[in-house]
Amino acid sequence: MTSKNNRVVRTETALGAEVQLAARARQVLRQNDMGDWTRAAPNLYPHQWSWDSAFIAIGLAHLGTRRAAKELLALFEHQWRTGKVPHIVFNPEAPPDSYFPGPEHWACAAASPDAPPTPPYTSCLCQPPIHAIAALRVWEVAERKGGERVDEARAFLRQIYPKLLLWHRYLMTHRDPEGSGLVTIYHPWESGTDNSPRWDEPLMNVEVGDLPSYPRYDLQHVANPSERPTGADYDRYLWLVELIKKAGCDERNIYRSHPFLVKDILFSAILVAANEALLEIAALVGAQGGDHTLIANWIARGHRGLNSLWDSELGLCLDYDLRARRPLRARTMAGFAPLIAGRQGPERLEALIATLDSLAFVGHPWLRWPVPPSTSPLQAGFHRRNYWRGPTWPVVNWLLWWSLLRAGEPERAQRLRQASLQQLVIGGFGEYFDPFTGELLGANDQSWTAAVALDWLASQSHGTLRRTATVLQPGRYEPVRGGHTEWAETVESA
Ligand code: DGY
Repeated sequence: MTSKNNRVVRTETALGAEVQLAARARQVLRQNDMGDWTRAAPNLYPHQWSWDSAFIAIGLAHLGTRRAAKELLALFEHQWRTGKVPHIVFNPEAPPDSYFPGPEHWACAAASPDAPPTPPYTSCLCQPPIHAIAALRVWEVAERKGGERVDEARAFLRQIYPKLLLWHRYLMTHRDPEGSGLVTIYHPWESGTDNSPRWDEPLMNVEVGDLPSYPRYDLQHVANPSERPTGADYDRYLWLVELIKKAGCDERNIYRSHPFLVKDILFSAILVAANEALLEIAALVGAQGGDHTLIANWIARGHRGLNSLWDSELGLCLDYDLRARRPLRARTMAGFAPLIAGRQGPERLEALIATLDSLAFVGHPWLRWPVPPSTSPLQAGFHRRNYWRGPTWPVVNWLLWWSLLRAGEPERAQRLRQASLQQLVIGGFGEYFDPFTGELLGANDQSWTAAVALDWLASQSHGTLRRTATVLQPGRYEPVRGGHTEWAETVESA
């Protein structure tokens, strides 16, 4: 066969792989669909998680505006009086003994008058605010598809806008009494990157008190306990829960006495980007002028805060421990916070890209795919199979892809998108992956992984939602060292 014919055959096979991937992603979302919200994963996570749901809405936007809107509205029904969006809304029908700590352990309604008083109950924590970004994505997809979807999406934006504003106001006030532009978290679970080495130092200062024994149901749902946080981590997590409950989930009490009080740069950067999205939504729904000024000020404050934590030696941003009064020096994906916040000057952008390409991240020679590990392999405490201590996470890759596009880096974004999709074709819809072998880790059929795949498949390399197909290589799972060089060649020849 001529090389031209070869190319046609390979392209057709690749398109077949893409169609199959989209069908599989839809199936995962259908299987985890609970009517108006989606389980994060079938067994390990049988409830509604806050930032999972936001990513899920981004995927659902491609399947139908109303269902995507419902996903976010269902979550915001459980918003606290303070504006907090809880990190978990508990499914009253989840199988017994499937997740710990469940609603009876949290007992938030008893602990705080601000919590929703009736079931379904929630946790007392929150998670990164992807929601406004997701709501805007629902609008963008509807606008592209046209027809009645546009009216549905506009009605949805009108409904969700005041709730989003209240949520962001909560974060900019209760979680930033210093007016620093940076969000304070009370628990590693709030970061969404639970056992990242980012939290090793502040967790060391948490002295665990009298803790009743508790079950680790999470370990029943993974192939190997080494994929999940350790027992020592969990003791600290649960002790922090006890302290938050003892403080009545009251922000001022927590600020006064809590041992874990950290300015989280990833959370803060997502809030800056979410405020940009909120500003666009404010314009679309015709919000009053005062809102625009308020949100623009939040954005400016967020940028100032992130700037103050830039570490030029590492070429990354650092979290800040309010208790120990010092930055937390860890090389993790969170350090790319300024890229996620957006609107960086050329010098800062260049420094961030250099770090991303370096041996510490995508340039590491042992990577199976050129996708960044959650923790740099050069960081002490890196572990290639353990949750946020090394594995690569498709949703983080989506966030980075989206940020690279906004930063005017379409080729780099396209490479990341292609490699991330290829990883899913071969590895499946895992929660996370071993960065060196590509092995699926954590939960299978993770909803947010399927959701970001659908969004990638619907998007052109330059980020607009596409009409024509791009090319993926079909493949089989085959651990390779230094495999990403081979992959780069395959993409070019496809
Ligand atoms: C878990 O259970 O692993 C979650 O990350 C906590 O929200």
